[in-house]
Amino acid sequence: MKDPRFYRMYGYDLAVLPNKRLQELERDVPDLETARTRSGASIGYPGWGLIYQLALCSLDPDRFSTVVETGTNHGCSSIVLAQAIKDRGVGGVLHTIEIDEETAGIARGNIAAAGVGDLVEQHVGASLEVLPGLLDTLPEINLAFLDGSHLMNDALTEFELVLPKLSPGALVVFDNTYEIAEPHEDPRVHGALKEIIGRGEGNLINLPYVSWYTPGVAIWQKAPF
Ligand SMILES: C[S@@+](CC[C@H](N)C(=O)[O-])C[C@H]1O[C@@H](n2cnc3c(N)ncnc32)[C@H](O)[C@@H]1O
Repeated sequence: MKDPRFYRMYGYDLAVLPNKRLQELERDVPDLETARTRSGASIGYPGWGLIYQLALCSLDPDRFSTVVETGTNHGCSSIVLAQAIKDRGVGGVLHTIEIDEETAGIARGNIAAAGVGDLVEQHVGASLEVLPGLLDTLPEINLAFLDGSHLMNDALTEFELVLPKLSPGALVVFDNTYEIAEPHEDPRVHGALKEIIGRGEGNLINLPYVSWYTPGVAIWQKAPF
């Protein structure tokens, strides 16, 4: 792997965070080591702000929203997405999938403390096993945040699974897009995105200076017009 780069911020004004639980978790966090003990492997700020605004600006204010997330971790990005659903004010649900039971338990506590537990359904298991059955129960997806396994085939398969369920303007957000792999290594999310672009479907915007190990967040949209 190439040297990691870190674009997670510290010492910013916590008032920018959309939920009080995140503000508590971020208080007096000076570095990555402390951040990991508080908020796990979360995308951090400005990533939290980015996905909050993406959700807030893309979820239809007149309709119930369905958001799907892979990789719950400690529940921090789940809190952000659920807060956006709450702030839209018309109802919705976040389905979030975490492979590790203990980690999902930490997330459960954070999500409850954040006051958004009524908007979140947690699923424990591997995303590729959970997604097919879950997707069968959903009429459509309005936003997907793919942040579970970052291996190329896993990320690509998650994308392919959610694709048929996306509403026309839906966003698919990928974390960890930087080209971190050496040529002999799994090309990870970067490789998945190259494959998706190569298929010539949809639009992709990559934002390199956000998130950490691996940085970069990309936003994919099928057919906005
Ligand atoms: C980078 S963390 C997610 C961070 C979280 N989205 C946030 O920003 O707050 C990745 C999480 O995905 C989980 N994970 C890894 N492989 C997975 C899989 N195949 N299915 C579901 N979760 C997976 C890991 O256990 C870990 O908790």
